[in-house]
Amino acid sequence: MKAVILCAGKGTRLYPVTLTMPKPLVPVANKPLLRYAIDTLTNMGATEIGLVVDSLDSPIRERLGDGLQTVGVPLTYIAQTNPKGLAHAVKLCQPFVGDEPFIVYLGDNVFQDRMDVLYRQFEETGASAALALTEVPNPSAFGIAELENGQIVRLVEKPKDPPTNLAVAGVYVFKPDIFDAIDHIKPSWRNELEITDAIQYLLDQGKGVIPYVVNGWWIDAGKPDAIMLANQLILEQLPFTPVDLQDPRIKGDSHVSHRVIIGEDSEIIDSVIRGPVIIGDNVTISNAYIGPYTAIGNNVIIEHSEIEHSIVMSFCTIKNIAGRIDASLIADNATVIHEPKKPNTHRFVLAENSLVQLS
Ligand code: G1P
Repeated sequence: MKAVILCAGKGTRLYPVTLTMPKPLVPVANKPLLRYAIDTLTNMGATEIGLVVDSLDSPIRERLGDGLQTVGVPLTYIAQTNPKGLAHAVKLCQPFVGDEPFIVYLGDNVFQDRMDVLYRQFEETGASAALALTEVPNPSAFGIAELENGQIVRLVEKPKDPPTNLAVAGVYVFKPDIFDAIDHIKPSWRNELEITDAIQYLLDQGKGVIPYVVNGWWIDAGKPDAIMLANQLILEQLPFTPVDLQDPRIKGDSHVSHRVIIGEDSEIIDSVIRGPVIIGDNVTISNAYIGPYTAIGNNVIIEHSEIEHSIVMSFCTIKNIAGRIDASLIADNATVIHEPKKPNTHRFVLAENSLVQLS
Protein backbone atom coordinates (compact mmCIF):
# COMPACT_ATOMS: atom_id res chain seq x y z
CA MET A 1 0.00 0.00 0.00
CA LYS A 2 1.21 3.50 -0.81
CA ALA A 3 1.17 6.56 1.41
CA VAL A 4 2.09 10.19 0.90
CA ILE A 5 3.44 12.69 3.39
CA LEU A 6 2.82 16.37 2.72
CA CYS A 7 6.04 18.24 3.52
CA ALA A 8 6.05 21.24 1.18
CA GLY A 9 4.87 23.89 3.68
CA LYS A 10 7.19 26.82 4.36
CA GLY A 11 6.97 26.39 8.14
CA THR A 12 6.74 30.17 8.66
CA ARG A 13 5.50 29.76 12.24
CA LEU A 14 8.86 28.19 13.07
CA TYR A 15 11.05 30.92 11.59
CA PRO A 16 14.00 31.40 11.88
CA VAL A 17 14.62 27.67 12.48
CA THR A 18 12.86 26.68 9.25
CA LEU A 19 14.68 29.29 7.13
CA THR A 20 17.49 26.76 6.78
CA MET A 21 15.85 23.49 7.82
CA PRO A 22 12.51 22.20 6.49
CA LYS A 23 10.06 21.66 9.35
CA PRO A 24 9.91 17.85 8.85
CA LEU A 25 13.64 17.70 9.67
CA VAL A 26 13.29 19.56 12.99
CA PRO A 27 14.34 17.03 15.63
CA VAL A 28 11.96 15.85 18.32
CA ALA A 29 13.65 13.60 20.91
CA ASN A 30 16.64 13.53 18.51
CA LYS A 31 14.67 12.13 15.56
CA PRO A 32 13.39 14.33 12.70
CA LEU A 33 9.63 14.95 12.87
CA LEU A 34 9.30 13.10 9.58
CA ARG A 35 10.51 9.86 11.18
CA TYR A 36 7.38 9.75 13.34
CA ALA A 37 5.23 10.05 10.22
CA ILE A 38 7.17 7.31 8.44
CA ASP A 39 7.02 4.99 11.47
CA THR A 40 3.25 5.46 11.82
CA LEU A 41 2.70 4.82 8.10
CA THR A 42 4.82 1.67 7.98
CA ASN A 43 2.92 0.48 11.06
CA MET A 44 -0.32 1.03 9.11
CA GLY A 45 1.06 -1.15 6.32
CA ALA A 46 2.61 1.38 3.91
CA THR A 47 5.27 -0.22 1.73
CA GLU A 48 6.08 2.80 -0.48
CA ILE A 49 5.97 6.44 0.58
CA GLY A 50 5.76 9.56 -1.57
CA LEU A 51 7.08 12.78 -0.04
CA VAL A 52 5.59 16.00 -1.37
CA VAL A 53 8.41 18.54 -1.07
CA ASP A 54 8.75 22.16 -2.15
CA SER A 55 11.63 21.31 -4.51
CA LEU A 56 13.36 18.16 -5.72
CA ASP A 57 16.56 19.73 -4.27
CA SER A 58 14.98 19.67 -0.80
CA PRO A 59 17.29 18.97 2.16
CA ILE A 60 14.77 16.22 2.98
CA ARG A 61 15.82 14.35 -0.15
CA GLU A 62 19.48 15.03 0.57
CA ARG A 63 19.04 13.52 4.04
CA LEU A 64 16.74 10.54 3.35
CA GLY A 65 17.65 9.71 -0.28
CA ASP A 66 15.76 6.76 -1.74
CA GLY A 67 14.79 5.72 1.79
CA LEU A 68 16.06 2.15 1.66
CA GLN A 69 19.27 2.75 3.62
CA THR A 70 17.93 5.57 5.79
CA VAL A 71 14.38 4.62 6.82
CA GLY A 72 13.92 1.09 5.41
CA VAL A 73 11.07 1.98 3.05
CA PRO A 74 11.34 3.25 -0.56
CA LEU A 75 10.72 6.99 -0.91
CA THR A 76 9.60 8.87 -4.02
CA TYR A 77 9.81 12.67 -4.15
CA ILE A 78 6.98 14.73 -5.63
CA ALA A 79 7.59 18.47 -6.13
CA GLN A 80 4.94 21.02 -5.17
CA THR A 81 6.80 24.15 -6.19
CA ASN A 82 3.73 26.38 -6.12
CA PRO A 83 1.76 25.36 -3.02
CA LYS A 84 -1.98 25.85 -3.47
CA GLY A 85 -3.32 23.86 -0.56
CA LEU A 86 -3.49 20.31 0.75
CA ALA A 87 -5.88 19.13 -1.97
CA HIS A 88 -3.50 20.51 -4.61
CA ALA A 89 -0.65 18.53 -2.97
CA VAL A 90 -2.76 15.36 -2.93
CA LYS A 91 -3.69 15.80 -6.61
CA LEU A 92 0.01 15.95 -7.52
CA CYS A 93 0.34 12.46 -6.03
CA GLN A 94 -2.09 10.85 -8.49
CA PRO A 95 0.60 9.46 -10.87
CA PHE A 96 2.47 7.99 -7.88
CA VAL A 97 -0.63 6.52 -6.22
CA GLY A 98 -2.38 5.03 -9.27
CA ASP A 99 -5.63 3.10 -8.74
CA GLU A 100 -5.23 1.84 -5.18
CA PRO A 101 -6.38 3.24 -1.83
CA PHE A 102 -3.70 5.32 -0.14
CA ILE A 103 -2.94 7.23 3.05
CA VAL A 104 -2.24 10.97 3.32
CA TYR A 105 -0.23 12.16 6.33
CA LEU A 106 0.48 15.82 7.18
CA GLY A 107 4.26 16.00 7.68
CA ASP A 108 4.28 17.99 10.92
CA ASN A 109 1.81 15.81 12.83
CA VAL A 110 2.79 13.43 15.62
CA PHE A 111 0.39 10.91 17.15
CA GLN A 112 0.58 8.61 20.10
CA ASP A 113 -1.89 6.31 18.29
CA ARG A 114 -0.30 3.70 15.98
CA MET A 115 -3.26 4.15 13.54
CA ASP A 116 -3.42 0.55 12.28
CA VAL A 117 -7.07 0.37 13.46
CA LEU A 118 -7.90 3.37 11.26
CA TYR A 119 -6.72 1.55 8.15
CA ARG A 120 -8.41 -1.71 9.16
CA GLN A 121 -11.75 0.05 9.64
CA PHE A 122 -11.39 1.76 6.26
CA GLU A 123 -10.84 -1.63 4.59
CA GLU A 124 -13.65 -3.38 6.48
CA THR A 125 -16.30 -0.75 5.75
CA GLY A 126 -15.39 -0.20 2.09
CA ALA A 127 -15.78 3.57 2.64
CA SER A 128 -14.39 6.10 0.18
CA ALA A 129 -12.42 7.81 2.91
CA ALA A 130 -11.53 7.50 6.58
CA LEU A 131 -10.41 10.43 8.72
CA ALA A 132 -8.53 10.64 11.99
CA LEU A 133 -10.45 12.91 14.36
CA THR A 134 -9.62 14.25 17.76
CA GLU A 135 -11.31 16.55 20.27
CA VAL A 136 -9.67 19.98 20.53
CA PRO A 137 -10.25 22.99 22.78
CA ASN A 138 -9.95 25.46 19.82
CA PRO A 139 -12.03 23.99 16.97
CA SER A 140 -11.99 27.23 14.92
CA ALA A 141 -8.35 26.52 14.06
CA PHE A 142 -9.04 23.21 12.26
CA GLY A 143 -11.22 21.31 9.85
CA ILE A 144 -14.22 20.19 11.93
CA ALA A 145 -16.41 17.09 11.48
CA GLU A 146 -20.11 16.71 12.23
CA LEU A 147 -21.25 13.15 12.95
CA GLU A 148 -24.64 11.43 12.84
CA ASN A 149 -25.09 7.80 13.86
CA GLY A 150 -21.34 7.31 13.91
CA GLN A 151 -20.89 8.57 10.32
CA ILE A 152 -19.40 11.84 9.13
CA VAL A 153 -22.16 13.94 7.55
CA ARG A 154 -20.47 17.31 7.14
CA LEU A 155 -17.02 18.86 7.25
CA VAL A 156 -16.19 22.52 7.58
CA GLU A 157 -12.78 24.15 7.43
CA LYS A 158 -11.90 26.53 10.28
CA PRO A 159 -15.50 27.45 11.18
CA LYS A 160 -16.14 30.71 13.06
CA ASP A 161 -18.99 28.99 14.85
CA PRO A 162 -17.86 25.35 15.19
CA PRO A 163 -20.65 22.76 15.24
CA THR A 164 -18.47 20.28 17.25
CA ASN A 165 -14.98 20.15 18.75
CA LEU A 166 -13.96 17.12 16.64
CA ALA A 167 -11.00 18.27 14.58
CA VAL A 168 -9.69 16.56 11.47
CA ALA A 169 -6.21 15.46 12.52
CA GLY A 170 -3.47 14.90 9.97
CA VAL A 171 -4.15 11.33 8.71
CA TYR A 172 -6.58 10.52 5.91
CA VAL A 173 -7.20 7.30 3.96
CA PHE A 174 -8.67 7.68 0.49
CA LYS A 175 -9.86 5.64 -2.43
CA PRO A 176 -8.66 7.16 -5.74
CA ASP A 177 -12.07 8.84 -6.24
CA ILE A 178 -10.67 11.70 -4.10
CA PHE A 179 -8.80 12.85 -7.25
CA ASP A 180 -12.07 13.41 -9.11
CA ALA A 181 -13.44 15.23 -6.04
CA ILE A 182 -10.40 17.55 -6.05
CA ASP A 183 -11.08 18.37 -9.71
CA HIS A 184 -14.53 19.65 -8.67
CA ILE A 185 -13.60 22.05 -5.87
CA LYS A 186 -12.75 25.77 -5.98
CA PRO A 187 -10.13 27.63 -3.91
CA SER A 188 -11.29 28.69 -0.44
CA TRP A 189 -11.25 32.17 1.14
CA ARG A 190 -7.55 31.62 1.91
CA ASN A 191 -7.05 30.83 -1.78
CA GLU A 192 -6.20 27.18 -1.15
CA LEU A 193 -7.69 23.99 -2.51
CA GLU A 194 -8.87 22.53 0.80
CA ILE A 195 -8.81 18.77 1.29
CA THR A 196 -11.79 19.30 3.60
CA ASP A 197 -13.82 20.64 0.63
CA ALA A 198 -12.82 17.65 -1.51
CA ILE A 199 -14.01 15.27 1.23
CA GLN A 200 -17.26 17.26 1.54
CA TYR A 201 -17.68 16.72 -2.21
CA LEU A 202 -17.42 12.94 -1.62
CA LEU A 203 -20.12 13.24 1.06
CA ASP A 204 -22.31 15.27 -1.33
CA GLN A 205 -21.99 12.44 -3.86
CA GLY A 206 -23.32 10.01 -1.25
CA LYS A 207 -19.93 8.36 -0.64
CA GLY A 208 -19.07 6.93 2.79
CA VAL A 209 -16.55 8.79 4.92
CA ILE A 210 -15.87 7.12 8.25
CA PRO A 211 -14.50 8.72 11.41
CA TYR A 212 -11.75 7.29 13.56
CA VAL A 213 -11.24 9.03 16.91
CA VAL A 214 -7.55 8.76 17.75
CA ASN A 215 -6.29 7.36 21.01
CA GLY A 216 -3.98 9.45 23.13
CA TRP A 217 -2.36 12.71 22.17
CA TRP A 218 -2.01 14.42 18.81
CA ILE A 219 0.37 17.30 18.13
CA ASP A 220 0.23 19.55 15.09
CA ALA A 221 3.87 20.55 15.56
CA GLY A 222 3.87 23.80 13.61
CA LYS A 223 4.97 26.22 16.34
CA PRO A 224 7.89 26.23 18.80
CA ASP A 225 5.65 25.45 21.80
CA ALA A 226 4.04 22.55 19.96
CA ILE A 227 7.47 21.17 18.97
CA MET A 228 8.54 21.37 22.62
CA LEU A 229 5.34 19.64 23.73
CA ALA A 230 5.90 16.86 21.19
CA ASN A 231 9.45 16.50 22.51
CA GLN A 232 8.09 16.23 26.04
CA LEU A 233 5.42 13.67 25.13
CA ILE A 234 7.88 11.47 23.21
CA LEU A 235 10.48 11.64 26.00
CA GLU A 236 7.76 10.73 28.51
CA GLN A 237 7.45 7.43 26.68
CA LEU A 238 11.10 6.47 27.25
CA PRO A 239 11.13 3.16 29.09
CA PHE A 240 12.52 3.03 32.62
CA THR A 241 16.29 2.56 32.41
CA PRO A 242 18.31 2.82 35.62
CA VAL A 243 21.66 4.56 35.39
CA ASP A 244 24.72 2.31 35.04
CA LEU A 245 26.99 3.38 37.88
CA GLN A 246 30.02 1.95 36.02
CA ASP A 247 29.29 3.92 32.83
CA PRO A 248 32.68 5.41 31.84
CA ARG A 249 30.93 8.35 30.14
CA ILE A 250 29.72 9.62 33.54
CA LYS A 251 32.65 11.30 35.28
CA GLY A 252 33.59 13.22 38.44
CA ASP A 253 30.85 14.27 40.81
CA SER A 254 27.94 13.60 38.45
CA HIS A 255 24.39 12.46 39.20
CA VAL A 256 22.44 10.93 36.36
CA SER A 257 18.87 9.76 36.95
CA HIS A 258 16.97 6.94 35.28
CA ARG A 259 15.50 7.50 31.78
CA VAL A 260 18.58 9.26 30.44
CA ILE A 261 19.95 8.14 27.07
CA ILE A 262 23.55 9.10 26.38
CA GLY A 263 25.07 8.73 22.89
CA GLU A 264 28.50 7.46 21.86
CA ASP A 265 31.67 9.37 22.73
CA SER A 266 29.74 11.73 24.99
CA GLU A 267 30.79 12.66 28.48
CA ILE A 268 29.06 13.99 31.55
CA ILE A 269 31.49 15.70 33.92
CA ASP A 270 30.54 17.06 37.38
CA SER A 271 26.95 17.49 36.20
CA VAL A 272 23.39 16.58 37.14
CA ILE A 273 21.10 15.03 34.50
CA ARG A 274 17.50 14.50 35.50
CA GLY A 275 15.52 12.51 32.93
CA PRO A 276 13.72 11.98 30.75
CA VAL A 277 16.58 13.34 28.69
CA ILE A 278 18.21 12.25 25.44
CA ILE A 279 21.78 13.23 24.62
CA GLY A 280 23.36 12.60 21.20
CA ASP A 281 26.88 11.54 20.23
CA ASN A 282 30.08 13.42 20.97
CA VAL A 283 28.45 15.75 23.50
CA THR A 284 30.33 17.28 26.43
CA ILE A 285 28.35 18.34 29.46
CA SER A 286 30.40 19.78 32.24
CA ASN A 287 29.46 21.57 35.46
CA ALA A 288 25.92 21.72 34.16
CA TYR A 289 22.34 20.75 34.99
CA ILE A 290 20.21 19.13 32.30
CA GLY A 291 16.60 18.91 33.42
CA PRO A 292 13.57 16.86 32.30
CA TYR A 293 12.29 16.92 28.71
CA THR A 294 15.54 18.06 27.15
CA ALA A 295 16.86 16.66 23.88
CA ILE A 296 20.44 17.44 22.95
CA GLY A 297 21.74 16.65 19.45
CA ASN A 298 25.24 15.56 18.39
CA ASN A 299 28.47 17.51 18.91
CA VAL A 300 27.14 19.87 21.56
CA ILE A 301 29.08 21.50 24.41
CA ILE A 302 27.22 22.62 27.54
CA GLU A 303 29.34 24.08 30.34
CA HIS A 304 28.49 25.93 33.55
CA SER A 305 24.86 26.28 32.53
CA GLU A 306 21.41 24.88 33.37
CA ILE A 307 18.78 23.87 30.83
CA GLU A 308 15.48 22.00 30.82
CA HIS A 309 12.38 21.35 28.69
CA SER A 310 14.32 22.39 25.57
CA ILE A 311 15.66 21.17 22.26
CA VAL A 312 19.30 21.83 21.45
CA MET A 313 20.19 20.68 17.95
CA SER A 314 23.68 19.75 16.71
CA PHE A 315 27.01 21.59 16.95
CA CYS A 316 25.73 24.06 19.57
CA THR A 317 27.75 25.61 22.37
CA ILE A 318 26.18 26.86 25.61
CA LYS A 319 28.56 28.26 28.23
CA ASN A 320 28.41 30.23 31.47
CA ILE A 321 24.73 31.18 31.31
CA ALA A 322 23.38 32.50 34.60
CA GLY A 323 19.83 31.35 35.40
CA ARG A 324 18.12 28.38 33.80
CA ILE A 325 17.44 28.06 30.07
CA ASP A 326 13.86 26.82 29.72
CA ALA A 327 11.42 26.02 26.88
CA SER A 328 14.00 26.90 24.22
CA LEU A 329 14.52 25.71 20.68
CA ILE A 330 18.15 26.15 19.68
CA ALA A 331 19.00 25.20 16.10
CA ASP A 332 22.23 23.78 14.63
CA ASN A 333 25.50 25.67 15.17
CA ALA A 334 24.01 28.18 17.63
CA THR A 335 26.26 29.65 20.32
CA VAL A 336 24.86 30.94 23.61
CA ILE A 337 27.64 32.16 25.88
CA HIS A 338 28.28 34.62 28.66
CA GLU A 339 31.73 36.22 28.57
CA PRO A 340 32.50 37.80 31.92
CA LYS A 341 34.19 40.87 30.37
CA LYS A 342 33.88 44.61 30.96
CA PRO A 343 31.94 46.51 29.84
CA ASN A 344 29.03 44.25 30.72
CA THR A 345 27.33 44.21 27.31
CA HIS A 346 25.09 41.86 25.35
CA ARG A 347 26.11 40.93 21.82
CA PHE A 348 23.69 39.30 19.36
CA VAL A 349 23.94 37.93 15.83
CA LEU A 350 20.31 37.00 15.21
CA ALA A 351 18.36 35.72 12.24
CA GLU A 352 15.02 37.23 11.23
CA ASN A 353 12.23 36.31 13.70
CA SER A 354 14.68 35.33 16.42
CA LEU A 355 13.51 35.58 20.01
CA VAL A 356 15.86 36.60 22.84
CA GLN A 357 14.22 36.89 26.24
CA LEU A 358 16.40 38.10 29.12
CA SER A 359 14.94 38.13 32.61
C1 G1P B 1 -4.98 21.55 7.83
C2 G1P B 1 -6.36 21.14 7.37
C3 G1P B 1 -7.32 21.07 8.56
C4 G1P B 1 -6.77 20.13 9.62
C5 G1P B 1 -5.35 20.57 10.01
C6 G1P B 1 -4.71 19.53 10.92
O1 G1P B 1 -5.02 22.87 8.31
O2 G1P B 1 -6.81 22.08 6.40
O3 G1P B 1 -8.56 20.58 8.11
O4 G1P B 1 -7.61 20.13 10.75
O5 G1P B 1 -4.50 20.67 8.85
O6 G1P B 1 -3.42 19.93 11.30
P1 G1P B 1 -3.77 23.89 8.11
O7 G1P B 1 -2.61 23.31 8.88
O8 G1P B 1 -3.51 23.94 6.63
O9 G1P B 1 -4.22 25.20 8.67
